[in-house]
Amino acid sequence: MKINVIGLGYIGLPTSLILAANGNTVVGTDTNQEIVNKLNNNIVTFEEGGLGDLFLEASKSGFTAETHPVKADMYIITVPTPYMKESKLIDPKYVQSAVRQVLEVMNAGAILVIESTVSPGTIDKYIRPIVLESNKSPELVHAPERILPGAMISELINNSRTIGADSQEVAEKVKRVYETFCKGEIVLTDIRTAEMSKVVENTYRDINIAFANELAQVCREAGLDVYEVIRIANKHPRVNILQPGPGVGGHCISVDPWFLVGDYPESTKLIHQARRTNDSMPNYVFDRIVEIMKENNITEFSKVGIYGLTYKENVDDMRESPTLQLLENIPQSKEFIIYDPLIIEKKIANQELDFSNFIKSVELVVIMVNHDQLKNQSLEGKVVFDTKNSITLPNTYKL
Ligand SMILES: NC(=O)c1ccc[n+]([C@@H]2O[C@H](COP(=O)([O-])OP(=O)(O)OC[C@H]3O[C@@H](n4cnc5c(N)ncnc54)[C@H](O)[C@@H]3O)[C@@H](O)[C@H]2O)c1
Repeated sequence: MKINVIGLGYIGLPTSLILAANGNTVVGTDTNQEIVNKLNNNIVTFEEGGLGDLFLEASKSGFTAETHPVKADMYIITVPTPYMKESKLIDPKYVQSAVRQVLEVMNAGAILVIESTVSPGTIDKYIRPIVLESNKSPELVHAPERILPGAMISELINNSRTIGADSQEVAEKVKRVYETFCKGEIVLTDIRTAEMSKVVENTYRDINIAFANELAQVCREAGLDVYEVIRIANKHPRVNILQPGPGVGGHCISVDPWFLVGDYPESTKLIHQARRTNDSMPNYVFDRIVEIMKENNITEFSKVGIYGLTYKENVDDMRESPTLQLLENIPQSKEFIIYDPLIIEKKIANQELDFSNFIKSVELVVIMVNHDQLKNQSLEGKVVFDTKNSITLPNTYKL
C-alpha cells in the first residue's frame, strides 16, 4: 500500500514514520519547504522521545518528504484545523486546500483519510462537496488521532483508535493499514460519530480541568489544600478529578471544545463556561504573583522569573501555552524573565536561554510547566510559586 501523508507536523510526521517503519511505502508532504529539506537531510524537525530512532527505521524503508502530493493508494491528511476567534466555528481552509491539492494528483478510487480533528459535520459540509465536484470519487474516511505529545510513539502503538467511514468495507480496508502498527482496539463507525467522539473526548478533559481549576480557587478562599482535597475525593471509586494548573494550552483541549460552542451555542453553556474558566487561569496566576510579590517585598516585575514556555511538560510545543496567554493578556508580565529548557532558540523578548543566568536574575520563580529538567535544578534561596504542584520545597506557594 502506498501512502501519502499530507502535513508533517506533530501528528503527520510520527504517523508517516511509524507507517513506513511497518511495511508501508510512505511519502510525506508538507508545504513548508524548510520541514521537507530538514527531513530529506536526515534532521528530525521536533523533539519527541523515540522519534529519532523511528526516523532511522523509516528512512531505511524509503520514507521521503516532498512539497507536493504524489500518486498513492491512500492519503492521510494531518493539517491544522484552527477555530475562528470571533464565531468559534472551525476554519476548514487548510483541510480543504490539502484535499484540493490531493484530488489534482490522485487516481480515481483512492482512499482519503482525514486525521485532523474537525468539528462534527465538517466532512459532509466542507469536504464532501469538493470531493463530489471532482471526477476522482475517493472513499472518504475520518480517523482522528488522540496521541499525547511526550509519549507519542508508545501511544501510536497502544492507543485504541476510531475509524469512521461510509461503508464497513472501506473501514475494514483502512483498519488493515492502521493495524500494521497499532496494537490497540480499532473501533469502526460512521464519519459523523467519529468526528463527534473525538471532539467530545477533549471537551470532557477541558471540563474536568476547569472543575479542578475552580476547586483551586474555592479551596484558596476556604484556606484548604486543593491537592489534598482532590487526592481524598479521588478515593471514591467513581470520582476522577484532574489536577488544577495555570491554564490549558496546545492545539487540542484548548481548541476543540470551541467547535461545539460555535456550532451549538444554545446547548453548550457548561462547555463554554469551562473554556472561560480555563482561559482565565493565566490572569488568576498573575493576581497570585502580585500577592506573593507583596508578601515578599518584591517590587519589580523584572525580578519575577517564569519557568516554562511550552503548553505541557517535556515537549517543545509552545502553541497557545498558558505562559504565552499570560504574556498576551497582561502588559506588566512583559517584564518577567522567561526560561524554558526545551525552547533552545530565542522566541520572545526577555527569554533567557541559560538556567544559571535566569535564576541569578530573579527573586521569585513561577513554575508554569513541570519539565523533568526542573528536578535537577536548585531553586534554593528563591521564593517559589509552583502552579503545577511539582516540587516539595518548604515555603512554596501553590495555586
Ligand atoms: N498536536 C497534537 O498533539 C494533536 C493531537 C491529536 C490531534 N491533533 C490534530 O491533528 C491535526 C494536525 O495537528 P499538528 O499538531 O500536527 O499540526 P502542525 O501545525 O504541527 O502540523 C501541520 C502541518 O501541516 C502543514 N500543512 C498545512 N497545509 C498543508 C497542505 N495543504 N499541504 C501539506 N502540508 C500542509 C503545515 O506546514 C504543518 O507542518 C490538527 O487537526 C490537530 O487538532 C493534534
